[in-house]
Amino acid sequence: LDNGLNAKPALGFNTWNAFYREIHEDLVKEHADLMVSLGLRDAGQYLVLDDCWSERSREEGERLQASKEKFPSGMKAMGDYIHAKGLKYGIYSDAGTLTCAKYPGSLDHEELDAQTFAGWGVDYLKYDNCHVRRDRWVIDRYAAMRDALNATGRPIVYSLCEWGVMEPHLWAPQVGNSWRTTEDIRPWWDSIVKTLDYNVGLSRFAGPHLGWNDLDMGNDTGLSHAEQRTHFALWALLKSPLMIGHDLRDFSKTSLGILLAKEVIAINQDDLGVAGDLVWRQGTKRVYAGPLAGGGRAVVLANFQTTYSQYPATNITVFWTQVGLQPGQRVAVRDLYAGGCTTWWCCA
Ligand code: GLA
Repeated sequence: LDNGLNAKPALGFNTWNAFYREIHEDLVKEHADLMVSLGLRDAGQYLVLDDCWSERSREEGERLQASKEKFPSGMKAMGDYIHAKGLKYGIYSDAGTLTCAKYPGSLDHEELDAQTFAGWGVDYLKYDNCHVRRDRWVIDRYAAMRDALNATGRPIVYSLCEWGVMEPHLWAPQVGNSWRTTEDIRPWWDSIVKTLDYNVGLSRFAGPHLGWNDLDMGNDTGLSHAEQRTHFALWALLKSPLMIGHDLRDFSKTSLGILLAKEVIAINQDDLGVAGDLVWRQGTKRVYAGPLAGGGRAVVLANFQTTYSQYPATNITVFWTQVGLQPGQRVAVRDLYAGGCTTWWCCA
């Protein structure tokens, strides 16, 4: 969606994968504080409250209302707190009558809800696809909220969570800033591979004036260290929004180090805005690559063999031409997880 909010994929934290229904004001405040103290504010700007923030019913006059028990200060105050930390404020609703967890959805309330969100200072809306009516076409339901958000005059990133229905890469670039390409990700490696397989060939539908394929959020609690590194690097290279889904109070240092890898995030946020894709596969070995501003290439070499422990080391050969370079071209190769320590010249 060319609404000026697409230049880069969104970065941030979302409450769902770590906390599911159990969100409340103090927990969100704690996570806003942690995003700053852990150094994630630079890396991730949006703090998104997912499902289960509201009351089970609308208030008189049909406005959505914060859960009095979970968010006693209200959603405007929640946003003020997040903004005071230098972060941006994300919230969640649904293009059906109810959200997935059966709180009120926004179908047929798009204008009022968009105005309510804008009034609360919301900067990002994740819009889900549960409890829909079969006689209402998905594209119309999503376009209605696009128009309502636009009418508020407030810049609000519009993140579609339609789970890949009707090949969203073919229609969503005119509707939202990102679109989910699959059903929900799970915190184990098979789910990561399934998501990646589904996304092969979709990179060409993404871009700065279009929007981004959303490969779903993080939460790598069931992944080995090597799997976590691979997951994050590929999400960055494919230019998916990077939303942390991990409890920020409970991080091993290594996992946090992956999420703070500045040069990997820089691939995701590169000015050229061209998403990378799979360029070679043989058995369990894969090469992903994409171009960067300034003529560089981002490349991920990965062995996808599942051993449930560490991956066995292996050799992978890449031909320069497979990543869009000239044969025999001299290039500097840099390991982006090594913090720039490993730079050397190659001429293969
Ligand atoms: C769906 C979405 C998830 C999350 C839940 C909330 O499953 O795909 O990301 O938002 O709903 O109920």
